[in-house]
Amino acid sequence: HGVRSLLLTSRRGTHAPGATELATELKELGARVEIVACDVTDRSALAELLAAHPDLTAVIHTAGVVRDGTIGSLTPEAIDALRAPKADAARHLHELTAELDLDVQAFVLYSSAAGVLGGAGQGAYAAANAALDALAAERRAQGLPGTSLAWGLWAPEAGGMGAGIEQADIERMARSGVRPLAVSEGLALLDAAVATDHALLVPTGLDLPTLARTAGAQIPPLFAQLVRPVAVRRSAAGAGAPGGQELAQRLAGLAGPDRQRLVLDVVNRHVAAVLGAVGGPGSGAPEITPDKPFKELGFDSLTAVELRNGLGAEAGVRLPATLVFDYPTPAELAGFLLRQLVPEDPAEGGDAAYEETVRASLRAIPLARLRDAGLLDALLELAGHRPATTGSPLTADDPAGEAGAIVDDIDDMDAESLISMALEGSDF
Ligand SMILES: NC(=O)c1ccc[n+]([C@@H]2O[C@H](COP(=O)([O-])OP(=O)(O)OC[C@H]3O[C@@H](n4cnc5c(N)ncnc54)[C@H](OP(=O)(O)O)[C@@H]3O)[C@@H](O)[C@H]2O)c1
Repeated sequence: HGVRSLLLTSRRGTHAPGATELATELKELGARVEIVACDVTDRSALAELLAAHPDLTAVIHTAGVVRDGTIGSLTPEAIDALRAPKADAARHLHELTAELDLDVQAFVLYSSAAGVLGGAGQGAYAAANAALDALAAERRAQGLPGTSLAWGLWAPEAGGMGAGIEQADIERMARSGVRPLAVSEGLALLDAAVATDHALLVPTGLDLPTLARTAGAQIPPLFAQLVRPVAVRRSAAGAGAPGGQELAQRLAGLAGPDRQRLVLDVVNRHVAAVLGAVGGPGSGAPEITPDKPFKELGFDSLTAVELRNGLGAEAGVRLPATLVFDYPTPAELAGFLLRQLVPEDPAEGGDAAYEETVRASLRAIPLARLRDAGLLDALLELAGHRPATTGSPLTADDPAGEAGAIVDDIDDMDAESLISMALEGSDF
């Protein structure tokens, strides 16, 4: 791109591993390179450095540290450690380049997708990065250049923060439709991004078909418009996502003890995957037995959420965040999951017959009686229609109107929705 003069800084400067080799390589390519140790959170040190480089025409701010931790470990010190090299340093650069009247043509901030999407254990890191995104917008509003790149994960080969990521974590992300960026992709995205007028871009590797499949389970709202979610409709068995339907179908073909065995296998597989992610290969992760409490297996709130997410995605059901606390062993959790997937059948003839019984019963109730019982408003709301008001024209004599539409919508509901509608909306 014709940039021939580079000033590279970090706290370690020339002592950073590979710094000398990098300088040599860049010089061989024809650049003038200066590597200077500077802590960018130190405003006066940074001011001195910038003042010594009045020809500076671009700033690329990449400083940052990783220190993941769940809410309980977010002490003021932990938050400061993450915020300072990101938010504080970027603001110093913003203010100092203005004070020194530098002719800055590009002001690029390396932010993280964590600031846009959130990330388990990344509350403080997310906030620090979101501050960078806000600064880019602020600069644009002032007519200054500003681009914040909320990067997704770079491949381990790129080095840096992605270098230490476990294969199990990469696989876990892949299951939710997110993949690491190769170096060539990341560099191409950098070029593309700085050529746009956007203050914030989210260069992230996505596997759209997988993302679409996870849509029913836990798709981040930001991605919702990128993919058309695979139609998710909870069946009588409570299954929604394709994986869930598959599991529910497999369970439907099995007898009681085999069902329990299959669900326990699924639970154990997810427990092992999460523990593998925690301990890493060969970490001597504890043996998983059906009655061993998750706490003894080493679960904490972060891994508990991972287990819940993974299981929920495979089973196609929305599971509570407190799952491993409510059902503290693999066996208890498997029992709960089985009840979600194959509810105990109060009517003969299986789940479909039960659902049809409920539907038929509801259909048989005259609308006037539903209204008299005070259920009609709840029905309308649940079915997505406006609530009925006093004196509403909605009567049993109007089957082709809104009432007819409601009956159609009742037909589209599953048994669980119908029952909760009936119970929540009535005085029974
Ligand atoms: N790699 C990824 O997958 C990924 C994904 C999303 C976002 N990002 C963002 O991209 C940026 C670069 O990440 P990376 O993967 O290249 O990580 P990295 O290799 O750890 O680079 C971060 C650099 O920041 C420097 N630094 C930290 N605190 C500093 C301070 N107070 N003053 C000056 N320099 C400081 C570090 O050097 P010293 O320790 O010598 O100071 C280090 O060279 C980071 O801001 C990161 O948040 C990376």
